[in-house]
Amino acid sequence: MKKIGILFSGGDSQGMNTTLKIIVNMCSVYGIEIVGIRRGYQGLLESDAKVLTNAMVEDVANLGGCYLKVARSKEFLTDKGKQKAIDNLEKLGIEYLIVVGGNGSYRGALALKKLGVKIIAIPGTIDNDLFYTERTLGFDTAVNNAVSAIDNIRQTMQANNRASVIKVMGRECGDIALNVAVAVQAHSVAMLENQTTIEDILDDVQKCLDSKVTASPIVVVSENISYSIEEVAEAIKEKIGIDVRSVNLSYLLRGGAPSVMDRTFATELGVLAVELIQQGKHGLALGMENNRMFSMDLEEAIYTKRELNSNLLNKLISLYKL
Ligand code: F6P
Repeated sequence: MKKIGILFSGGDSQGMNTTLKIIVNMCSVYGIEIVGIRRGYQGLLESDAKVLTNAMVEDVANLGGCYLKVARSKEFLTDKGKQKAIDNLEKLGIEYLIVVGGNGSYRGALALKKLGVKIIAIPGTIDNDLFYTERTLGFDTAVNNAVSAIDNIRQTMQANNRASVIKVMGRECGDIALNVAVAVQAHSVAMLENQTTIEDILDDVQKCLDSKVTASPIVVVSENISYSIEEVAEAIKEKIGIDVRSVNLSYLLRGGAPSVMDRTFATELGVLAVELIQQGKHGLALGMENNRMFSMDLEEAIYTKRELNSNLLNKLISLYKL
């Protein structure tokens, strides 16, 4: 009987439980044993694992969070840690390992692959920081969460003629900020990819006010920028002289039920993962391009680069600069 291990690593993301459920269900249909490793690589180092059954995951598909829990493991980053992980996989009798996570988790998966582990990697992170795939699991839900929150914030800001400076997650990637900014028709967006300065933001805000489109400009700031939203708010207040509030949406983005898009993606990822393993394939990262699922070499996937798609946003912002 084939035996697969599955772990979730890094930050949790919506859709992780959805993909877990379909993987467990498919394994039971194919007669494969599936072992859930709790708390990512850290759990693997502690052999914190259990065989998963359909009953265990029956009710998890629509839940945010992560049934098996996630962790960030410092010990796993060491050579000793990786060797311990290999030893524990052997002890647990795990032949294939499915890793669900973002770029840090993928680097861990690649290290294990190089040590001979048969890996399938699933992109699970709200950050969208794996550039070989159009989308990562949880990104769509996180963007939707941010948009709903900003819809509420906008109402009270408009009632008070205030500007708002809103921070969204994305440690090494501005994709959440960019997509949220377009969706809410923000008046400025700050992210590392654009090297946006506080002066750039002030310029956007001033032009928005001059255009009389609104007295309540919205500024979306990515977590990947070095200055704080408080500094931006202070600069708006001092240099432009309007009332302003800053809000960090933070973990609000990472909770709640996965969107339909994330559930569908999670299901397709899970199905593809088990099918590839059934065919004896491994060393692969799964993704989506133009709504079609694909798999590619894990190492190549990690090193794939992507240009920032700021066209639409630049067009939007230029509306206020006419
Ligand atoms: O990697 C996903 C992410 O949500 C980032 O956007 C954020 O910087 C980080 O996780 C937060 O991590 P933690 O949950 O460890 O505080």
